[in-house]
Amino acid sequence: MINLARSTTINGFEVEKANRAGNDLAVVKRSNAWNQSIGVGNMNTIKSDFDHVAKLYDSSLPPIPEEYCQLIQHRFNLGRRDRVIDLGCGTGLLTFALSRFSNNVEGIDISKKMIEIARKRDTKRRIKWICGPVESFDFGQDRYSLIVSYESFHLFSNVDGLIKKFEVGLRSNGFLCVGWCCFQWEEPLKSVIIDVFRSSGIDWEEWGYWRCSDFPAAVKRNKHLSPVIEETIRVQAKSHISSIASYLASIDKAAKLEVNAKMNLIEELTRNFKKFLSSEWISGLTSYSIAYSNKCVS
Ligand SMILES: C[S@@+](CC[C@H](N)C(=O)[O-])C[C@H]1O[C@@H](n2cnc3c(N)ncnc32)[C@H](O)[C@@H]1O
Repeated sequence: MINLARSTTINGFEVEKANRAGNDLAVVKRSNAWNQSIGVGNMNTIKSDFDHVAKLYDSSLPPIPEEYCQLIQHRFNLGRRDRVIDLGCGTGLLTFALSRFSNNVEGIDISKKMIEIARKRDTKRRIKWICGPVESFDFGQDRYSLIVSYESFHLFSNVDGLIKKFEVGLRSNGFLCVGWCCFQWEEPLKSVIIDVFRSSGIDWEEWGYWRCSDFPAAVKRNKHLSPVIEETIRVQAKSHISSIASYLASIDKAAKLEVNAKMNLIEELTRNFKKFLSSEWISGLTSYSIAYSNKCVS
């Protein structure tokens, strides 16, 4: 059930707040040319999947909108000295954005290839890159002001155990946050995408589980963490069907396909999108969400 709490404005962008909500919350209107979805895979194959797609995934990544970075910075009041860690950081999409606000940013990812790309891009050596599973990382005690994960939390295992480790690793009043986005084309193209993937032998399984619906319940089981608050901003977006098709071929679900099969997948997706849509461009609102909890002062 959506339970709106209040509406706020950050740097002129309207943001609505809910204590636990669906996606139909705030609306931020702004042009953003490229917005695509993230695919998800089977836990056992995560490492190899992302190693396989790292380059392609990175090159097809749409940027995170400025409004979303501002929302994170304001909501968590990030200062230069705050220690922040980005879990499942991939090639550093959010990590680099965080390093604009803090001098003490770490990014951890299980995929060696993802971390390699991120490290290479970090020419000023501003970020500490860690390669390994978050499940076995030592978060220490009272260390972090913000532990955040964007489009990755749904891939982690042992959620209760992890949340305990995060809570201990957080400073008093520190924040634990998961973030995700929902692209403007997901809803209209969902059934086409599922069908085309199925015809390539790939079962899409549950759509949208990157929204981490089990996160609030897992947080609630830890008595040192406050109830989860969710906030969503919406950004005007427009994407060409060929970009969407290429992107979908770069997600981990398509990782196991040979090059030719990948090309076929792109062609099939594009052909079916054309049949389904009246234009080769698709516009709408992409939503970017955060769900977060605060470590209560002991
Ligand atoms: C969908 S990508 C998102 C990457 C990045 N946050 C972004 O938005 O571009 C998911 C990332 O989570 C990483 N990952 C999955 N399971 C992990 C784990 N147990 N520990 C650390 N990283 C993990 C994958 O290697 C991959 O880079």
